[in-house]
Amino acid sequence: MPQHDAASLLDRSPEMTGAEMAASLVPPRQFDGATLESYRPDPDFPSQAEAVQKVRAFAEALTGGGGGGRGLFGRRKGPDAKPGIYLDGGFGVGKTHLLAALWRLAPGRKYFGTFIEYTALVGALGYAQAVQLMSGASFVAIDEFELDDPGDTMMMTRLLGELAATGTRIAATSNTPPNALGEGRFAAVDFLREIQALSERFDIMRIDGLDYRRRDVEGHAVAVADDEIEHGLAAFTGPTTIDDFDALLRHLSRVHPSRYVRIVEGLAAVGLRGVHTLTDQADALRFVAFVDRLYDEQVHVVASGVPLDQVFGDEMLAGGYRKKYLRAISRLIALTN
Ligand SMILES: Nc1ncnc2c1ncn2[C@@H]1O[C@H](COP(=O)(O)OP(=O)(O)OP(=O)(O)O)[C@@H](O)[C@H]1O
Ligand SMILES: [Mg+2]
Repeated sequence: MPQHDAASLLDRSPEMTGAEMAASLVPPRQFDGATLESYRPDPDFPSQAEAVQKVRAFAEALTGGGGGGRGLFGRRKGPDAKPGIYLDGGFGVGKTHLLAALWRLAPGRKYFGTFIEYTALVGALGYAQAVQLMSGASFVAIDEFELDDPGDTMMMTRLLGELAATGTRIAATSNTPPNALGEGRFAAVDFLREIQALSERFDIMRIDGLDYRRRDVEGHAVAVADDEIEHGLAAFTGPTTIDDFDALLRHLSRVHPSRYVRIVEGLAAVGLRGVHTLTDQADALRFVAFVDRLYDEQVHVVASGVPLDQVFGDEMLAGGYRKKYLRAISRLIALTN
């Protein structure tokens, strides 16, 4: 039987210029329809309706109040009005949905990206140029805010300070409240001053709730046999790929995570052979970043081996990146069903 020439993810290793990275700072396609009206607050968790209200008020200040000007009835905004809003909450409670809705409401020049995308932009352009590019924007949205190391911490503290000083308003989402950022990842206690300065820029809103994705999805990732992958992929219209899990991991180690979006762009589904439990943290974190991009682009996964909701070992789930792994699992369940 002639071997099918299924495409491979390994042939997709794109370069991205700083200008292309800047142009890609918009919400992922998945959130094209995300508005404040399409967000359905769960009555069991009042913080959801409160979050919508806060986001709406923030949006109104952006459109009405201008750069720190007057609000309704010419009342000056209080001196303690913060430049930012920070949505902290569990997986799938709609933080990114609200952030994308807010971005859409913001007037003028605005950016939307994940924390990783902003750090990559600074890496590609250099700090001064990245600031120059973003300064003067009315609004900057930072999804999945996190601090992985001292370098990020110093850079973000400075960047947000400069943007806020020139009137840019900021919104961020995270699975971690600002005062706990960095915990278990690096010696965050040595950076309390920076982390405190960061968190003071934001009005913090905690959103509780259940994972919305699980409202209509089975609770487990589906795995198939090796020889069923092609059949599984045939159910999707559009380009698909097949790769060995280990080969994908090696590939991911050679591409910067900010470019993973280019690896998965335009695909309907990816096949992965021989998934196994990960034991190396760097592999696991890269795989998380890859899953995020699959999820944003709504690229489905057909996989053999260990079910993907068991890809992170117990030891990893107990460590400082626990929430990240749990979120990836929630996404993998959605993508394999
Ligand atoms: N209350 C809601 N009403 C309508 N749609 C929702 C609601 N909550 C979540 N969704 C939808 O569910 C999906 C998951 O939500 P979203 O990605 O915004 O969650 P999240 O809080 O950012 O999760 P994560 O922590 O995994 O990033 C999205 O498609 C979003 O539009
Ligand atoms: Mg999100």
